[in-house]
Amino acid sequence: MSRPHVLLARAVFPAVVERLREHFEVDDNPADIIHSPAQLTARLQGKAGAMTTGSERIDAVLLAACPELRVVANMAVGYNNFDIAACTAAGVLATNTPDVLTETTADFGFALMMAAARRMAESEHFLRRGEWTRWSYDMFTGSDVHGATLAILGMGRIGQAIARRGALGFGMRVIYHNRSPLTPEQEAPIQARYVDKATLLREADHLVLVLPYSAASHHAIGSAELALMKPTATLTNIARGGIVDDAALAAALHERRIAAAGLDVFEGEPAVHPALLTLPNVVLTPHIASATVATRRAMAELAADNLVAALTGGTPPTPINAAGLKR
Ligand code: GLV
Repeated sequence: MSRPHVLLARAVFPAVVERLREHFEVDDNPADIIHSPAQLTARLQGKAGAMTTGSERIDAVLLAACPELRVVANMAVGYNNFDIAACTAAGVLATNTPDVLTETTADFGFALMMAAARRMAESEHFLRRGEWTRWSYDMFTGSDVHGATLAILGMGRIGQAIARRGALGFGMRVIYHNRSPLTPEQEAPIQARYVDKATLLREADHLVLVLPYSAASHHAIGSAELALMKPTATLTNIARGGIVDDAALAAALHERRIAAAGLDVFEGEPAVHPALLTLPNVVLTPHIASATVATRRAMAELAADNLVAALTGGTPPTPINAAGLKR
């Protein structure tokens, strides 16, 4: 029996490519070329599976042109690059990589929040520019993280991991808003309090966004929401670009309506809103919250596990739409 053909849409660890070659005819992408939708459709011809990242959009148009496709394995926990309803309608299993990146991503979110609160990037740039000629008592004074109110929008696995760091490590008071509240058993160890979104914004010393992107969360933070925040507050986004209206955020930072921001994700990335690039009070990183060697390996292995199981009669460990496909 001929082996299934799969596409690795982006470059990935060579050991993972070799592992997949044990099961499949693998079309890989060691040059890491980013394909246009037309190029991706062309390369998917005859393929039963694909390993994708956020740069590949899997939608109804592509699926209609790739009738042999049976599984798309995203190497990311977020999957807003997938039209899940279209995948289910086309009988295509979609999978993602939850859990393996939770703690690593929470570490980075916390670091970005601290960097914004304590003005780390701004003061480092000052030093590198050779402007540090004398010390003064109010030089780069920021706001405390310990003991402050940590406000989390989106209290899934990563939100809870950030809340644990804040409550247990830094004595922070944790408030959160989510589609549904945690159970009392989940809230108790971190003394987290569920509040409505307006209360979250008003009471936040440090607001961290960890919610999935969808039409419903598009511009969940815009000028109206920013207007509710304290002028001393910080905002950190490690979720997805598009959850924040970047132009509105840049204006709020410029006018010091909030103190600072830490952003790992951007609307239209890798392009970054030009106003953000000129502001001193924002820490900018290129979508690297899960980027440790160990975690990126674990993500790639989990995506490979999903691909192998889906195409060899096994049970994919982390399916997104398996229930929908069964119906
Ligand atoms: C990264 O952004 C991911 O969703 O894993």
